[in-house]
Amino acid sequence: MSAHGDPIPMISHKSAGLSGTAQVPGDKSISHRSLILGAMTVGETVVTGLLEGQDVLDTASAMRAFGAQIEKRDGAWHVHGVGVGGFGEPDHVIDCGNSGTGVRLIMGAMATTPIAATFTGDASLNGRPMARVTDPLAQFGTRAYGRSGGRLPMTILGARDPQPVRYTVPVPSAQVKSAVLLAGLNAPGETVVIEREATRDHSERMLAGFGATIRREDSAEGHVITLVGQPEFRPQTIAVPRDPSSAAFPVCAALVTEGSDVLVPNIGLNPTRAGLFYTLQDMGAELSFENPREEGGEPVADLRAKFSPDLRGIEVPPERAASMIDEYPVLSCVAAFAAGKTHMPGVKELRVKESDRIDAMARGLRAAGLRVDEGEDWWTVHGLGHGAVPGGATVQSFLDHRIAMSFLVLGLATNAPMTVDDGGPIATSFPIFETLMADLGARIDRVAR
Ligand code: S3P
Repeated sequence: MSAHGDPIPMISHKSAGLSGTAQVPGDKSISHRSLILGAMTVGETVVTGLLEGQDVLDTASAMRAFGAQIEKRDGAWHVHGVGVGGFGEPDHVIDCGNSGTGVRLIMGAMATTPIAATFTGDASLNGRPMARVTDPLAQFGTRAYGRSGGRLPMTILGARDPQPVRYTVPVPSAQVKSAVLLAGLNAPGETVVIEREATRDHSERMLAGFGATIRREDSAEGHVITLVGQPEFRPQTIAVPRDPSSAAFPVCAALVTEGSDVLVPNIGLNPTRAGLFYTLQDMGAELSFENPREEGGEPVADLRAKFSPDLRGIEVPPERAASMIDEYPVLSCVAAFAAGKTHMPGVKELRVKESDRIDAMARGLRAAGLRVDEGEDWWTVHGLGHGAVPGGATVQSFLDHRIAMSFLVLGLATNAPMTVDDGGPIATSFPIFETLMADLGARIDRVAR
């Protein structure tokens, strides 16, 4: 089943010479945060380049339910917020669809306001762990009543008299870090979050942009982030950079498809997000950063990716994992066309994404003729080299957009086509994927049912 309807089976065929310019959509992480922080700000925040994927649209609906006014006008999103601590109690269940980022950040944002809200999602989201967020929120005085295993549907009772918190995040997760910081906004005094490994820092950058006092120090404990509560937010004008996690798909497609030369302009290259591109270069990819510049406080460049016949397998540094955590599925497809093994250690978090991504990819890659070894927090793809990957399998996407897109990229260069049982979830993060890939010359089609 697709996230929001009947399954949409899709097939990708061996293609040649992908070319042109791929204008990928806005960054998903920054889009969610723009709406949530805008909703916590009195006055009008204007957002251009917002990702209009289902995940972000679900967050917009949720923010309306808490009292914000949000509308799209003249190509921009206008958010009239209610101020820090100003959320009203929703009169219906909040459905966050497929989005872990949406639900976890919104839980944090409402956790220190004395209201109740009930959250649910699709089958994928309702299977994902929420205790990683509700445990630290409990320290503010927030209560959570969910299903066994800390799963949705779940009701959150916001703290009436929130206390600031000092919390060390036990897993590398920007969602957990961000939930605690957003909760800290409506607590008096300083909320401190410590992360041992740096994860994406969009929340910190954007909180500072909205006017919060926030600082980061590096200590023996890790990165110590201190937020002063109860700020007066100023409305912002936000130009969302294009999403490096979406850029990954046309970039990787070009690298593995013979004769390709594709430009992917305006990609956000925040160092906490760009790990895939350095990994691809380490593998021998013909990938370059053109016209590097800074836009809206984020580093940006145009990516140029060319067919790379001499890719080699590598050991991916585990300390890079957080900066490319969403990109391992598509990386594993590039690894299939490399010579030798690509070993990916330190990636336990992949098991609790929209699907268990190690399991989902290992099954599909094996069905396509590859050898994949795996452990709880690592996996290895044994590459067969260009022109030597059989393909010819039907694989499951497990309600996971990135699994679906990864196998469709794989099928562009396997010897026989790859079929994905349901491409519907692609709309959660990359609604224009099919037309964008078709415009480059990729042979990806829907399968008549
Ligand atoms: C995100 C954080 C990451 C990432 C997700 C977006 C965010 O999740 O996988 O796609 O916007 O904060 P985790 O916090 O679970 O690592």
